[in-house]
Amino acid sequence: MYNFDFYNPTRIFFGKDRLNVLQTNIPQDATVMITYGGGSAVRSGLIGKVKAELGNRRVIEFGGIEPNPKYETLMKAVEIIRAEGVDFLLAVGGGSVIDGTKFISLAVHYNGEATDLLHFGFQSITSTTVPKVLPIGTVLTLPATGSEMNSGAVISYNHGKFPVMSEMAYPKFSILDPTYTYTLPTIQVANGIADAFIHVTEQYLTYPVDARVQDRMAEGILQTLIEIGTTTINEPENYDARANHVWAATMALNGIIAVGVPQDWATHMIGHELTALFGIDHGQTLAIVLPSLLEVCRDQKHAKLVQYAERVWGIHDGSDDQKIDLAIEKTREFFRSLGLKIRLTEHGVTADQIPTIVAQLEAHGLTALSETGKITLEVSKKILELSL
Ligand code: NZQ
Ligand code: ZN
Repeated sequence: MYNFDFYNPTRIFFGKDRLNVLQTNIPQDATVMITYGGGSAVRSGLIGKVKAELGNRRVIEFGGIEPNPKYETLMKAVEIIRAEGVDFLLAVGGGSVIDGTKFISLAVHYNGEATDLLHFGFQSITSTTVPKVLPIGTVLTLPATGSEMNSGAVISYNHGKFPVMSEMAYPKFSILDPTYTYTLPTIQVANGIADAFIHVTEQYLTYPVDARVQDRMAEGILQTLIEIGTTTINEPENYDARANHVWAATMALNGIIAVGVPQDWATHMIGHELTALFGIDHGQTLAIVLPSLLEVCRDQKHAKLVQYAERVWGIHDGSDDQKIDLAIEKTREFFRSLGLKIRLTEHGVTADQIPTIVAQLEAHGLTALSETGKITLEVSKKILELSL
């Protein structure tokens, strides 16, 4: 196991009817900006309930944060905050709203051009760059990204998706009430399961470093998602299934299974280009890319792929290669069982568009991806060809 530092300051309030914690976890005299998306949280009545809990505090609403949140939209909130004075940001929504709110929090007190903050990649932005941030709380409505308990955001700008990381961006608290996710369209539930699943594989399907706790936690999250996947899609108001989905998604990307192990993230980097170019939902891009990536990288991932086949899918017969083949097939079948499209062509993307995708990877400097850095542009091209 590698050396590691672990830090996660986000307080979680999990379960039904937890909104009353807003009363005690946001200062009484704070001016609060509530951020939300295209309106689902207004229509479900959640924004109204949140406002009721905020009582006499001064509240400013900022709606309209779109899926794959855009820099330009977020900067409008920054302008309002600078003009009005805001002490606390309360994000009510899915990954896009929470990510967008993290970026707003970082940008408000940044002295330069805020686009600078898009170019730190996976390097954490510190107080040397951003002297001060606004505290954030979240009310989660879509289980998928783990953004409610991590320090990352992904911001869209100029046909690219840019990761932004900062320890200062961890939410102070997040309210995870599975019932707030009941209104999700089926496809977003499926996207969320795929996203959480692939967050785990990015941190687990690499090479062994004898990290037994992390491996078994990763396997437990994957098995949970497999067990509850179709149930939570077919029975959206089955509380137990949805509660397990929500907590699995949070645990998949709150840093716990990442400690002391190598990490991949190539599926995400290739997937981000597919979203930026073709508007395919984040979770669906991953369901397309992962199985092909596992196929192409089966040698570098051999030992963990066999472990995945045996421990996650219970495949014990046959040679190592047969186990790996079957595990990849079962992975595809699982995504298909959720109702996801698992081929680029199903989204209208054809072979002649692959050079454009590869050119974008190159433009964004994504030329040596994965835990080994061995996914060159040539290898990404192979993965994309296999994903058609
Ligand atoms: O905008 P509204 O009207 O709220 O509708 C949203 C949106 O259209 C809707 N929705 C959310 N909760 C709902 C609901 N509809 C009905 N009922 C509810 N309870 O769902 C749609 C998608 O929302 P979005 O927030 O975009 O989805 P998700 O949570 O999957 O977030 C995706 C974004 O997160 C980034 C992705 O790149 C993408 O931009 N990621 C962030 C990560 C992180 N911060 O750690 C890691 C991830 O890998 C990912 O890259
Ligand atoms: Zn993701």
